[in-house]
Amino acid sequence: MTAPLRGSEPIVVDVALGERSYDIVIGRGQLATLGARIAKLRPGAKIAIVSDRNVAAYHLDAAKAAVAGSAVATVVLPPGETTKSFTQLAALCDALIAHRIERGDLVVALGGGVIGDLAGFAAAIVRRGLDYVQAPTSLLAQVDSSVGGKTAIDSPHGKNLVGAFHQPVLVIADTALLDTLPAREFRSGYAEVAKYGLLGDAAFFAWLEANWQDVFAGGSAREHAIATSCRAKAAIVARDERETGDRMLLNLGHTFGHALEAAAGFSDRLLHGEAIAIGMALAFAFSARRGLLPQAEADRAIHHLAAVGLPTQISQVPGGVPDVDGLMTLIGQDKKVARGQLTFILARGIGAAYVARDVEAADVRAFLDTKLG
Ligand code: GLY
Repeated sequence: MTAPLRGSEPIVVDVALGERSYDIVIGRGQLATLGARIAKLRPGAKIAIVSDRNVAAYHLDAAKAAVAGSAVATVVLPPGETTKSFTQLAALCDALIAHRIERGDLVVALGGGVIGDLAGFAAAIVRRGLDYVQAPTSLLAQVDSSVGGKTAIDSPHGKNLVGAFHQPVLVIADTALLDTLPAREFRSGYAEVAKYGLLGDAAFFAWLEANWQDVFAGGSAREHAIATSCRAKAAIVARDERETGDRMLLNLGHTFGHALEAAAGFSDRLLHGEAIAIGMALAFAFSARRGLLPQAEADRAIHHLAAVGLPTQISQVPGGVPDVDGLMTLIGQDKKVARGQLTFILARGIGAAYVARDVEAADVRAFLDTKLG
């Protein structure tokens, strides 16, 4: 039990998507308000809470207590990325149907990105679409995967290749739940927080440089950082819900990062945020090499990531990575390749990222050569 008995006033961020608009409610103890908020949104709805064994051990009782008074079913799945599979999707869909979750009822995804993506996708397809609520329990999920409506499972061919756009009706980001996260996992989520500053908000990045210790310690700085991140993502998603333009900015660091994650077998050797931290450091170094920004500004971006304890160099991937040919193959398999041209998110400065669709593979190869020595 980590949430305090009484919560403070939450910060509410609106995701403005017309009839698909929803609130992100951010604050300590907010999970306890889940039942009251659902009762307002969907009075009388039956609730299915979907979680994994690790998260359930910490937070399922609190979530159930928060919705006491409603009819509640629970589905607890195995933890880990392998749960984003056809097998677990089928099991979850069947469980929701067996629990008689109908249109008008609600699925609550209580967990990190895996549970949010899987439960959101199941909600998108069971009975041709159920509403769902995201109750993210990791920093990464609170600032990234719970917001935006992209839901998916993995295919043997790659991550997130089978899915749907399906927006939640509510996101409850209880920041007290992060108190139980291992430090490494919190730091990994912080890479996505820093990303919002690096891609579009230089003032936020400067604030993070000055206040990151407080964000890690908890309290109002953490809430401010999460709310600012969610506002940034909400604004981008509102401009480009289906990722045909601006939303690609959210992929800053992801082209290099996904290749490194794949090289590490999508395992605990390299967490997603760690891969993205290295990817962002490489994206800034690559941008500086192309003369887009001064080297000193790229160094400043990289220095902050390193200062919080995130890896910033390929050599920091435990167990090593393939040679340049191998990495280029992995980059080529990433979904951000269109008709032979590499799409990269590059930067003209801190807070000034842009989508570059015409990056030559030879330039990337030459750059990686300098990094692999
Ligand atoms: N669910 C994550 C996103 O839409 O970006």
